[in-house]
Amino acid sequence: MKVILALNQAAGDQAAFNVFQQVIDNGARVLGLATGSTPEGLYRLLRESSLDFSAMTSVNLDEYVGIAPDNPQSYHYFMNQHLFNAKPFAHSYLPNGLATDPDAEVKRYDQVVADNPVDLQLLGIGRDGHIGFNEPGSPFDGGTHRVKLTESTIEANARFFASKDEVPREAYTMGIGTILKSREILLMAYGDKKADAVQKMVEGPLTTAVAASALQKMDNVVVIVDPAAAAKLQPASISKRL
Ligand code: PGA
Repeated sequence: MKVILALNQAAGDQAAFNVFQQVIDNGARVLGLATGSTPEGLYRLLRESSLDFSAMTSVNLDEYVGIAPDNPQSYHYFMNQHLFNAKPFAHSYLPNGLATDPDAEVKRYDQVVADNPVDLQLLGIGRDGHIGFNEPGSPFDGGTHRVKLTESTIEANARFFASKDEVPREAYTMGIGTILKSREILLMAYGDKKADAVQKMVEGPLTTAVAASALQKMDNVVVIVDPAAAAKLQPASISKRL
């Protein structure tokens, strides 16, 4: 894992954009995408760029259960707004939050990822160390599954809803095992609320209690942090400063 400390969020977004541009220039076919506040600046840079995704495929990490793709709270809607409407891909896949047969949906999505091996997977990190919606305790070799969200995640995501009660309690997510199969991984983390999770991911024990610690020993992982998210890291953990 290589940790890049950016001067601020804008510098981090630009560094993330450069990683995207490089893998696309190197012939990447499949981008693994993420939702949440963290990648919004990167998506703006991608929207405003001359990059063309029309021959590429995207696969997203996760989706809430019980929400239709055209519901503004869905991750599908988020992706349309932040990227796909401006920069369509040839194929874009997300889990189907309205699937009536969860087992079949999990199998379908694992097949989607198997058929479209991810060249670059973008990740955020939860305050509890989750990646995708792999909450504490998720096995490192897990495939796509349906999860119950933790209280910490429900509280963190309540800001996108009228009230905490409206936050869905379940989601479909790629597993940690699915994520680890990506050729390259780029994780972004900004702000002091992520400092604990970042410290545990980078310096803590490898433990399923912190899903992101699964990335620690991988040499194909780049982590971009701002000073607030890096506040609890040892200087020696930082590979590069921008
Ligand atoms: P955020 O979410 O980007 O909205 O902070 C990240 C995550 O929970 O993975």
